[in-house]
Amino acid sequence: MQALVLAGGEGTRLRPLTSGVPKPVLPLAGRPFLIFVLDWLGRHGIDEVILSCGFLGDGVARVLGTEHRGIALRYVNEDEPLGTAGPVKLAALHGGLEDRLIVLNGDVLTDADLTAELDQHSRTGAVATLALTAVDDTSSYGVVPTDDDGRVEAFLEKSGAPAPTNRINAGVYVLERDVLDMIPDGRAVSFEREIFPELVGNGLYGYSDDGYWIDIGTPDRYLEATWDLLAGVLGSDLPPRDESGSLIADSCITSGARIGPQAVLGPHCSVGAGAWLERAVLHERVIVGADCHITESVLGAGVVVGHGARIEARAVVGSGADIPAGAVVKAGSRVPAAAAAR
Ligand code: GDD
Ligand code: MG
Repeated sequence: MQALVLAGGEGTRLRPLTSGVPKPVLPLAGRPFLIFVLDWLGRHGIDEVILSCGFLGDGVARVLGTEHRGIALRYVNEDEPLGTAGPVKLAALHGGLEDRLIVLNGDVLTDADLTAELDQHSRTGAVATLALTAVDDTSSYGVVPTDDDGRVEAFLEKSGAPAPTNRINAGVYVLERDVLDMIPDGRAVSFEREIFPELVGNGLYGYSDDGYWIDIGTPDRYLEATWDLLAGVLGSDLPPRDESGSLIADSCITSGARIGPQAVLGPHCSVGAGAWLERAVLHERVIVGADCHITESVLGAGVVVGHGARIEARAVVGSGADIPAGAVVKAGSRVPAAAAAR
């Protein structure tokens, strides 16, 4: 069975991390994000994945290649952003799509029961089935009320109005060919704003799943997903964490530093003596000087932090940036990537 992964958004809310690296392959807990998605798809019998790329599209193919653990990977690149449904139409026009297709948002980390969603889809005879998940704050999602039989009653994409339910669109769809036929060709089209609202009452069903689900598309949620993976809230085959719950690549040098709890150090990082990295995420080749204190922040590849600097919670430092010795990067700030790394 095939799945198409939407992997062409600009990842604006994750900038500067996504200024040079596309969101779908941003390192998460030390591996390109989509690896978690491909492994999950593989567990549900998917053997071919079409990656729909646009922004920095070459970057996705360069990292993932043409095969992952028995899943064939193929790429459809768009010249202009086509939204969420437009890329599926483009892939259909390229040919080779089966009549029943799974479509995924490429920034969702989940262990939802895709097999059960497919079973429900067959049982109800739906034209489209959307996985739904419950969240506390529905404001940045598509809200999807259903009746007791799972029929979707409305599709309310980031409407701002009081939500009638806390069940939202989880970005995991099973679609019949009829849906692809509805998508206009040659322009950007949104499933959420054009296609799903039109399908309400015409074979659109919701499948409610209570498993793990998170959209990694903001720094806060990227960090939350990282800590959940480290803590094993979501099952994975990550290497064992150390006694502080941290994941430190073998090639790192950290003697005399305090790492953890729950830090991630990508390959070839070096951390000076007396430094403390608390729930921090370092991508590859980050150099941290002595006596620095880094808390709950993300540092892109090749960042250099001078000795004694402090990086406060929820800061994001873009690739190659240079933080001077003794500097304080305030909580929640964004430090742009160095020009060469963008
Ligand atoms: N190929 C391609 N082209 N992909 C795109 C484009 C495009 O022009 N625009 C966005 N995408 C991809 C993104 O890379 C992402 O994987 C997915 O489509 C969804 O886009 P986001 O920008 O992350 O949307 P969102 O998170 O605000 O909202 C969507 O996801 C929510 C769940 O996380 C909607 O589907 C909501 O209804 C849903 O609740
Ligand atoms: Mg998203």
